[in-house]
Amino acid sequence: MKNLQNRREFLKGSAWMGAAAVVAGCMGERLKLTGGGSMAGFAVKPMPRIRVAMVGLGGRGYWALRRLVLIPGLEITALCDLDAEKVAKSQKLLSEKGKPGAGEYVGAEAYRRLADEGVADVFYNSTPRDIHTPLNVYAMNRAMHVLTEVPSGRTLEECWETVETCERNRVHCMMLENCCYGEMEMLALNIVRLGLLGEIVQCDGGYIHDQRKMQFSGDKIGWRLKDTIEKYGNFYPTHALGPICKCLNINRGDAFDYLVSMNSASPSFEGLARRKPKGSEFENLKFNRGDVNFTLIRTKKGRLISLQHNVATARPYDRINQIVGTKGLMRGIEGSGYSICFEKELCDGGAKSYFDREKAEALRREYRHPLWKTAGELAKKVGGHGGMDFMMDVRWAYCLQNGLPLDTDVYDLATWSSIVELTDRSVRSGSRPVECPDFTRGAWKTAEPFAVDGIDLSKMPIS
Ligand SMILES: NC(=O)c1ccc[n+]([C@@H]2O[C@H](COP(=O)([O-])OP(=O)(O)OC[C@H]3O[C@@H](n4cnc5c(N)ncnc54)[C@H](O)[C@@H]3O)[C@@H](O)[C@H]2O)c1
Repeated sequence: MKNLQNRREFLKGSAWMGAAAVVAGCMGERLKLTGGGSMAGFAVKPMPRIRVAMVGLGGRGYWALRRLVLIPGLEITALCDLDAEKVAKSQKLLSEKGKPGAGEYVGAEAYRRLADEGVADVFYNSTPRDIHTPLNVYAMNRAMHVLTEVPSGRTLEECWETVETCERNRVHCMMLENCCYGEMEMLALNIVRLGLLGEIVQCDGGYIHDQRKMQFSGDKIGWRLKDTIEKYGNFYPTHALGPICKCLNINRGDAFDYLVSMNSASPSFEGLARRKPKGSEFENLKFNRGDVNFTLIRTKKGRLISLQHNVATARPYDRINQIVGTKGLMRGIEGSGYSICFEKELCDGGAKSYFDREKAEALRREYRHPLWKTAGELAKKVGGHGGMDFMMDVRWAYCLQNGLPLDTDVYDLATWSSIVELTDRSVRSGSRPVECPDFTRGAWKTAEPFAVDGIDLSKMPIS
């Protein structure tokens, strides 16, 4: 996988389209860093008071606001949405919580005025995924730190633009991948770091979420369904991928090498579309994506990552969360915890069956991630996907307040988000392998592994 390519050529797709080789992709690399150099380990001076602009106050943004008002040192100074009613509802929440009123910004372009006016330090972006990049780029160009919902770039061009803008402006740009903060995902990270599973060779993840009702209940095609109609690959890859990348130290000792991706047919979604009234937007709909997508990524160090995406069939919610090491394995079980087994000595038979519930629970307590040890009870009380949403917000606020690097950086954002276009390319080329770009431009070889960091509540008094 050494065929260095000009980035533009790669983005145009001219190289991979014509490649007769088994590997159809190529490296979309820039050889020089833009502007101020690598963002690896980037930190800013401590910011005890952080002014936050909430942009996009729909399902996700409004609930984020409910969490952020609980975190000391954060001040919501701007509320922005297309819809004046959503801004008013959020303003009402601030007043109910005894917080000062925030500036109101209404309309599709209002985020520009917000960024131009310099009313906030952090741009918290919860808008629909197809507009994340232009908004994030605009905010970074106005020296704002960006925290952005998932995924945060839907094309390789957008991923590169985000990386380059971040490097030029020397600001934080982190994807709000809340699943990196799940209790089980963080337990796994701790267990992997302690070497209890041996050397990790395989990780399996997914986004399996029955959204049939949500996507077919109205009489209009929503932005979620539009993705299944227009895209070919895994357009929502980061929930499982983020935590897996942390376990495998992707961009910090290992890197994606290439992937293949494949779709099923779409009997489920096509069947639901046929049940809609004649003459509706749903009539004769075809879904490029198919009901189920499978993707297999190989890393430079020869580890395998499998990803599933399925929002179309009747089955329980699942992110799979399986980590396979040479000495054992761990598997998340949605709603009821996890299964684990590992051997103490080589081939001692200790991992022939999963440990019983009691032992698994004892291990869970013993190896609970430091962040969950400190703030777990509080996070569960506040809620948001079992507490992980609050954990994520507390942690970035803590890092900014104490002048620490954030847990993930713009290279992670780009690497995880790039799966959207890379899988699209693979599916459209008949599931041929596609090479993954290295957004770090080689820095992954020497970057420090992901830390297993907690928070010190005395440096962030939480009431
Ligand atoms: N991390 C998670 O667990 C999770 C869960 C759900 C959704 N998401 C992500 O969160 C994002 C938002 O999802 P949602 O379910 O809240 O969607 P939503 O449609 O409920 O909310 C989006 C909001 O953005 C507003 N908006 C649209 N264009 C805007 C613009 N130009 N300026 C300001 N506001 C604008 C809309 O009016 C709406 O209120 C998506 O990127 C989605 O992928 C993440």
